Amino acid sequence: MRITVLTGAGISAESGLATFRASDGLWEQHRIEDVATPEAFARDPDLVLRFYDMRRAAAAAAHPNAAHRALVRLAAHHDLTLVTQNVDDLHERAGSPHVIHMHGALNRACCAGCGHRWTAPAVMSATDPCSACSAPATRPDIVWFGETPQHIEAIWAALEVADLFVAIGTSGNVYPAAGFAQHAGRNGARCLELNLDASSNARDFDQRILGPATSIVPAWVDSLIG
Ligand code: APR
Repeated sequence: MRITVLTGAGISAESGLATFRASDGLWEQHRIEDVATPEAFARDPDLVLRFYDMRRAAAAAAHPNAAHRALVRLAAHHDLTLVTQNVDDLHERAGSPHVIHMHGALNRACCAGCGHRWTAPAVMSATDPCSACSAPATRPDIVWFGETPQHIEAIWAALEVADLFVAIGTSGNVYPAAGFAQHAGRNGARCLELNLDASSNARDFDQRILGPATSIVPAWVDSLIG
């Protein structure tokens, strides 16, 4: 069976990483327009870089949980395309071989000049020279609000051939990811939501299982692979 899975911050919550829209979420502590837009980076690069340095350190200190590991088991039994909105590397550290990061990755830096990407240092500086073109144009390899998600054509293609689309731990507030269930459903996929609470796009799903990811994701995977 061809399965496309989309994960959001909720799958990493029980690993200790903050989600965005909970009452104690990242967007309650920081204004998006101050730390997650190209304009914010142009206005105050150090403030933005400190925000991502903090998140990079938190991700490095976190560990994959049973939900991340369950998706590794799933991939051993089905044709799985794993798409994540998350910028942590917990899927990779759990053992997922190919993770599509549509919003970028905390552990990568890129050059705003030539697009070269490399492993991000723990603490970034906007004046660090690009290791390819030497321009002092370093930025986090993060897709900010107003920018185009990465790998989006490959994601649409995977949604169009999926037999099953599963959203895990995402509130369904940010497009284009919030439109994935509808796109997959229109192309014949059954759509399942695994979440702590029903998402904003709950109407796009055929089935919903609510609960903490470390409980419901392993149980769901076991129900599929026995
Ligand atoms: N288990 C399962 N789901 C959980 C858990 C948990 N332990 N804890 C929280 N959740 C769910 C919440 O119910 C919510 O639906 O995870 C979701 C988190 O929603 P958001 O904080 O909005 O995060 P996400 O959906 O990933 O945000 C999408 O928005 O700000 C941008 O770029 C950012 O990638 C992010 C995107």
